[in-house]
Amino acid sequence: MAAYQYTAVLVFSLLQASVSGFPTNIRDPVCGYKSCPATQPSMLNVHLVPHTHDDVGWLKTVDQYYYGDRNDIQHAGVQYILDSVVEELQKDPSRRFIYVESAFFYRWWKQQNQATRSIVTQLVNEGRLEFINGGWCMSDEATTHYSAVIDQMTLGLRFLNDTFGPCGRPRVAWHIDPFGHAREHASIFAQMGYDGFFFGRLDYQDKDRRKKTKELELLWRASESLSAPTADLFTGILPNGYNPPDGFCWDQSCEDAPIRDDPDLEDFNVDDMVQMFLETAHNQSKFYKSNHIIMTMGSDFQYENANLWYKNMDKLIRYVNGQQAAGSRVNVLYSTPSCYLQELHRANTTWALKTDDFFPYADDAHDFWTGYFTSRPALKRYERLSNSHLQTCNQLEVLGGPKSRSGPFGKGDSDTMRKAMAVAQHHDAVSGTEKQHVANDYARRLATGWAHCQVLVRNSLAVLSGSDARRFFCENLNISVCSLTETSKMFTMNVYNPLARPVSWSVRLPVNGSAYSVTDAQGKPVTNEVIPLSKATMALRGQRGSALNELVFQVQAPPLGYTTYSISLLQNRPPPPPPRPKAPLTMQNKFLKVTFDPATGLLSSLSNLETKQSIKLSQNFYWYNASAGNNEESDQPSGAYIFRPNCSTPFIISKTAKIQTVQNGVVQEVRQWFSPWVSQVVRLYAESRELELEWTVGPVPVEDALGKEVISRLDTDINTSGYFYTDSNGREVLERRRDYRPTWDLLQSEPIAGNYYPINSRAFIKDKESQLTVVTDRSQGGSSIVDGSLEIMLHRRLLYDDVRGVAEPLNETGEAGAEGLVVRGRLLLTLTPPDTAADAHRPLAQAQVLQPLLSFQKGPAQPSTRLQFSGLQAALPPAVHLLTVSQWDYDSVLLRLEHQYQSKESKAFSQPVTVNLQKLFSNLEVLGATEMSLGANQWKSEMSRLDWRPSSDAGAPPPKRPADPSSLDVTLHPMEIRTFLLRVWQS
Ligand SMILES: *[C@@H]1O[C@H](CO)[C@@H](O)[C@H](O)[C@H]1NC(C)=O
Ligand SMILES: *[C@@H]1O[C@H](CO)[C@@H](O)[C@H](O)[C@H]1NC(C)=O
Ligand SMILES: [Zn+2]
Repeated sequence: MAAYQYTAVLVFSLLQASVSGFPTNIRDPVCGYKSCPATQPSMLNVHLVPHTHDDVGWLKTVDQYYYGDRNDIQHAGVQYILDSVVEELQKDPSRRFIYVESAFFYRWWKQQNQATRSIVTQLVNEGRLEFINGGWCMSDEATTHYSAVIDQMTLGLRFLNDTFGPCGRPRVAWHIDPFGHAREHASIFAQMGYDGFFFGRLDYQDKDRRKKTKELELLWRASESLSAPTADLFTGILPNGYNPPDGFCWDQSCEDAPIRDDPDLEDFNVDDMVQMFLETAHNQSKFYKSNHIIMTMGSDFQYENANLWYKNMDKLIRYVNGQQAAGSRVNVLYSTPSCYLQELHRANTTWALKTDDFFPYADDAHDFWTGYFTSRPALKRYERLSNSHLQTCNQLEVLGGPKSRSGPFGKGDSDTMRKAMAVAQHHDAVSGTEKQHVANDYARRLATGWAHCQVLVRNSLAVLSGSDARRFFCENLNISVCSLTETSKMFTMNVYNPLARPVSWSVRLPVNGSAYSVTDAQGKPVTNEVIPLSKATMALRGQRGSALNELVFQVQAPPLGYTTYSISLLQNRPPPPPPRPKAPLTMQNKFLKVTFDPATGLLSSLSNLETKQSIKLSQNFYWYNASAGNNEESDQPSGAYIFRPNCSTPFIISKTAKIQTVQNGVVQEVRQWFSPWVSQVVRLYAESRELELEWTVGPVPVEDALGKEVISRLDTDINTSGYFYTDSNGREVLERRRDYRPTWDLLQSEPIAGNYYPINSRAFIKDKESQLTVVTDRSQGGSSIVDGSLEIMLHRRLLYDDVRGVAEPLNETGEAGAEGLVVRGRLLLTLTPPDTAADAHRPLAQAQVLQPLLSFQKGPAQPSTRLQFSGLQAALPPAVHLLTVSQWDYDSVLLRLEHQYQSKESKAFSQPVTVNLQKLFSNLEVLGATEMSLGANQWKSEMSRLDWRPSSDAGAPPPKRPADPSSLDVTLHPMEIRTFLLRVWQS
């Protein structure tokens, strides 16, 4: 009662504030756990959590959703939701609401006047409006890369801290909709300081089992390398997805009966409603351990007219609790996920331990959500490339100083790209499960972001190099299009390397000359070759370019810096020899040897000449015919989310490939042509330890009225015994086993789709002797369906919607007038002993994610141009990855250092390693460093998380982590990421 009066006073002052237009003195905030409502220890407490699930783009674009535009597609307008909720929250201090997606809240907040802002601030300070999750979006978990996830969370959490301070800091991670859950996401959330995590979707068999054993709440130990409890995350599985229980949906979009409580009117239903609610609560409580349960009162884009919800929930609470006088033991209350979590913590009990992940997700026997691992492969690649661009943009903003934002080429910024990338992490964005016009919108945002970054990069490179000659970027080098290199007799190429170690990278530039001289920054000649452009590439680039040839050479770029190459045409040389029309028997460099079967033109073996290992390796392309949903087992078609082949045997595209071969001292290529819509280049550069398979797939033919899902399959004699391995969000690797789940007895009902897993950057198969690792250039789905085999899904074109809401078949037609989308990408293969595999695939994958940025200037370099620069005093040790270098404020920089090896993964590198922050940068003086949480919204020293106990714990507690040698000497342990805010001085 006293508490009630206290808050009533606050309401009064709130009203005063809004009337007078001046904020009154804000009381000491009582947000967070302290603001939670009282509960009844001896009763079943039902936490009603009013919420809305606002997709940051799906059927409509993010801005259409914000405004409520295109309500013909879907009735949804986020601005009205926030307007309405803020209005309703003021009417009763016990009412609560949570808000999740900062991308939307940011849009709304910008448009509010001071009076509304102070009302909202007070609601936040009293815990009545609580931010949950708080990232820019609710990221997808299967198709995202950890660096982009950390960035998008950082963006949202920073906005909340800047706007509301500590009361804006979310305590709970909330991924109620993503279609399966990645262990790396749990690890990231734990390191961001979240106390717990709730989600809605998991495999239906797993859910059944967990209900029976009361393991719907569990402790997720999300890293094999980080010592507990660093990556421990309490995880709760919500009872009904994220929807209200049946019969209690009071949104304007719902049809359930309102509570009719006037006995003088018709259809009085209070007794029935109370009875139904009590039954629902009791039924639900059977599956949970404590005397607290949660009900998610809301759903997609609900609360546009929040009065409907609150008016009925007010009554529900009044009438259900009214029964307590008559002996009812049920107490229902407005609550939030964090208040619910606090009660679970107070229960002081133990929770089942989980160490694997929640992939794949099936909601029925023939409904595996494993198609979206590959859906929209071009968008997935563009998103990955954009991440590389954003990191480069961030770094050059720091290295180039303030002039990079406003310099000779005008105003540039990294913010547009940061926001575009953050939006693209949404679980209907990079996942490929949005409508076509929305996919186009995500891509357009990324392109706009990159345009803003280009100005910044030009300015920064002008500052660093002292040359303000205009730079050109060639976006279409993957299809050998770049008008500057095609037409210039003399040009320079700047190679910026965003990694903290030197890299060697092979470039192929479209040209029309027959011979070139290439010199490096020291003026030394660089070995190069000109080769004829392939027919497949000419066909693909069409009228967009005119190059006949490609100039191929190897570049070396310094850590976090650039170097410059000068290229000039040598006149009057004969054209390069045409490709030979036959497969060579072998292709070989210092490190690798590959053989081909002369009869088929396919790969036949791969050998590592350094380790003297050899495996049989054949590779070919196949497709699965998509189920159209018309068979007796199930009517589920394959679609944007769901993969369901109509037969478990894939069709071979061609048993043989037509071949052309190019071999010279720089590169060897076998160009394989399988069909008018599938071709590949098997490429071995003189200096590389990996074999490149550059695939081109599309337009996928659908004239036979069957959707198709195209795979590349590697078949080897590696003795895999059903095991294979895939990464989690590009970081730690998880063991997979065919027709098996680590935590329950699987009833396998889809022998192909039910064995697919997300691959974000790598997958491998191995036996005692050999490991074949495939590094990908984007997120894809894959599996090992028979022993020794690894398949990766490259492209999907489908003719039916899979009835999960998107209401469009995944039928990407590509550019206007095209017959279908053509996609090109590459797989990189390494063959190593298993115990040194990580030494190869960790740096290789990192170099794919953060790839060098090439820019070009016409003519020779201006005199006095600084041709080479490194932002580091020295390369970082091989185990250390520079994950983030980003301007934070005018005199501070956000830095993340990562140990990129798992414990036990590498004899050479799985050791602690120490980095000195003061000796890091070459042109920045570090004046001080403060460690932060991974999300950079809390000082590390102030971070404290709720502790949770597992019901079984393997082994003794880990040894206490030794302290850093000094505040500027930072030690990293395997898989650790450490985040610092550096105070810097630009020297
Ligand atoms: C929680 O339980 C443990 C072990 O059962 C006990 O030692 C501890 O005192 C309890 N803590 C609280 C706060 O009740
Ligand atoms: C949070 O924001 C406040 C300003 O509202 C700022 O003073 C504080 O340093 C920020 N905290 C962190 C960890 O960035
Ligand atoms: Zn959603």
